[in-house]
Amino acid sequence: MWSIRDKTVLITGGTSGIGLESAAVLASQGARVIIVGRDAGKVSMALGVIEARPGGVKFDERHRPESYVCDFSSLRAVAQLADAILRDIPALHVLINNAGSVFANRTLTPDGYEATFAINHLAPFLLTQRLLPLLSDSAPARIVTVASGRHFKGTMDFGDLGFERGYRILRAYARSKLANVMFASEQARRLSDGRVISNSVHPGRVATNIWSGAPAWAKPIIKYWLSRTFISVPEGAAPVVALATRPDVSEVTGQYFDGHEMRDPSPAARDLEMATHLWHESERLVHTALHVHGGANSGRLNVS
Ligand SMILES: NC(=O)c1ccc[n+]([C@@H]2O[C@H](COP(=O)([O-])OP(=O)(O)OC[C@H]3O[C@@H](n4cnc5c(N)ncnc54)[C@H](OP(=O)(O)O)[C@@H]3O)[C@@H](O)[C@H]2O)c1
Repeated sequence: MWSIRDKTVLITGGTSGIGLESAAVLASQGARVIIVGRDAGKVSMALGVIEARPGGVKFDERHRPESYVCDFSSLRAVAQLADAILRDIPALHVLINNAGSVFANRTLTPDGYEATFAINHLAPFLLTQRLLPLLSDSAPARIVTVASGRHFKGTMDFGDLGFERGYRILRAYARSKLANVMFASEQARRLSDGRVISNSVHPGRVATNIWSGAPAWAKPIIKYWLSRTFISVPEGAAPVVALATRPDVSEVTGQYFDGHEMRDPSPAARDLEMATHLWHESERLVHTALHVHGGANSGRLNVS
């Protein structure tokens, strides 16, 4: 029977919102939690928040939360992060791909890729591929990818993945979240023995910092939504934590969860040919960044 106690959980985007809350809850349930954030100061603040949580746990040395600093806008930094994890950590039972961002204007990463797609999809794609051997050796293991209901609006145009034409913040975000859903289920198909399961989840519309990258004109509208219609951060983290902890999903893989319920994702997300195409294109883009542009990147990685 699956129990999260004493399991090692790595969660990206652990400095804020859903990621920080999930990390704190999982730590309080006895998991060894490792957070990844892009800013060293925010990472140490997040560790403090997890440790000082009211009613929280007293950590022994094995369970004290740990951290890595890595900016997902550099795929070289993500590769270095994976190397460091493989060097430092003997077992990994749950990988939560949660880090995510939006950009008001089309922005390119140092690798030359549209930033929403690179940070929200290519970075977790690469991290997961590099950590798969560790997850397999630690199996049973779980990959949880935090997607979004926004993926229903997402389209995949392989001729212009980076929106050289027609960039809009919500279109780019929806594409990246469609990529998350497609990736999670394609990953499951490629792990057909079921020892490592892979699912994606929409946490709900949650009052976090995710829209801090929205254009200034939209911020009052977002503020209005946040206060009226969005659920709280603990409510949004609950389905993410559930996918990491629920014993009854131990054999569920390749599925999309809307909150706590399994449901069909969008027709595009169920297009197997497109998922295979996305997989190959992601491999190609990652390979190009690491081995063709490689030297130009300045990946930043600290470990604590
Ligand atoms: N909030 C919602 O309504 C909602 C709905 C559906 C899905 N989601 C998904 O939930 C996930 C978590 O988002 P959230 O709502 O909790 O937002 P959030 O509070 O802004 O948290 C996002 C996390 O990702 C990290 N991050 C952003 N850019 C990064 C980069 N370049 N490299 C490394 N880490 C980076 C952030 O680091 P910093 O702390 O340094 O900014 C933060 O830890 C995202 O994947 C989002 O798409 C959110």
